[in-house]
Amino acid sequence: MIKTLEKRKFPVGKLTLLASARSAGKTLPYMGEEIPIQELKEDSFGGVDIALFSAGGSISKQYAPHAVSAGAVVVDNSSAFRMDDTVPLVVPEINGDDIKKSRGIIANPNCTTAITLMALWPLHVAFRVKRVIASSYQAVSGTGAQAIEELRQQVAALASGQPIQKKVYPHQIAFNVLPHVDSFLETGYTKEEMKMQNEGRRIMHHPTFKASVTCVRVPVYRAHSVAVNAEFERPVSLDKARAVLSQAPGLDVVDEPGNALYPLPLNCAEKDNCEVGRLRYDCALDNGLAFWVAGDQLLKGAALNAVQIAERI
Ligand SMILES: NC(=O)c1ccc[n+]([C@@H]2O[C@H](COP(=O)([O-])OP(=O)(O)OC[C@H]3O[C@@H](n4cnc5c(N)ncnc54)[C@H](OP(=O)(O)O)[C@@H]3O)[C@@H](O)[C@H]2O)c1
Repeated sequence: MIKTLEKRKFPVGKLTLLASARSAGKTLPYMGEEIPIQELKEDSFGGVDIALFSAGGSISKQYAPHAVSAGAVVVDNSSAFRMDDTVPLVVPEINGDDIKKSRGIIANPNCTTAITLMALWPLHVAFRVKRVIASSYQAVSGTGAQAIEELRQQVAALASGQPIQKKVYPHQIAFNVLPHVDSFLETGYTKEEMKMQNEGRRIMHHPTFKASVTCVRVPVYRAHSVAVNAEFERPVSLDKARAVLSQAPGLDVVDEPGNALYPLPLNCAEKDNCEVGRLRYDCALDNGLAFWVAGDQLLKGAALNAVQIAERI
């Protein structure tokens, strides 16, 4: 988030950095200066106009109301308020105008949902989506800083013949894939898997949108990928689909399979735009399109989207 504010030349008057007591006293660089980190407290928000929250749902629930009472607008990266009808859930390219309805808190969507919708939304506008079936390939940085370290240590341990340690994931993540992201619901889906339908409905203003998703954690450091099969109400055309995707803001079409060109998480890491490719008629759905979308979930799925919301504010 700090790097994104810097890169986009956000008009910051004063940057206040808040974290846990563990980080208090450390510094982080911003615009050539070292800014000290302070411990988050209920009275931390005096004089703050915009507060970007990204410390997990329980911290958001506890402290966002204090930020709002102090006069700040909160952009919250956690899932705490995403399904609250009084809180806009926003991808600026899709429903930026919802920001005007805010009563002080604006929610930043789930990363896999935001990245998928960057490609699905323009297709929905053209053909009106009914339902999607999707599988995600999610990077370990989606779980946070400790998970990045876990993959790094497991790769190093395995390369030198040492036993691996696991704390963050229930199984070895190096050289493995885990069909398990977030906690399981009674239906057998995970919470993460249901976010695409639940959050997608709010963001696209499309209350009957359906999404059956399997979320998979893969040993990739950064950038999520999603294989999507989408069924539409109107007849689809590949030419029109390609045309609307190539004009969509925040999205690059990378689709020359004959030259082995398609979106790759390694190419999307640290890149603002998401990428879409492998576009084809779906052979198993009526009015269906299949595609592969990838994007940096720390950027479009988190920091960039939050800063874009702040820019709209
Ligand atoms: N990673 C992603 O791709 C992604 C994408 C979208 C949304 N999100 C959401 O973003 C949030 C943070 O995730 P993350 O992946 O960035 O996690 P992370 O790397 O573990 O970072 C968590 C941050 O929260 C701070 N924090 C923890 N406990 C705190 C406390 N008691 N008081 C104040 N600050 C505290 C930590 O500060 P210390 O270093 O001082 O502990 C750290 O800066 C989560 O809600 C997550 O769901 C993450």
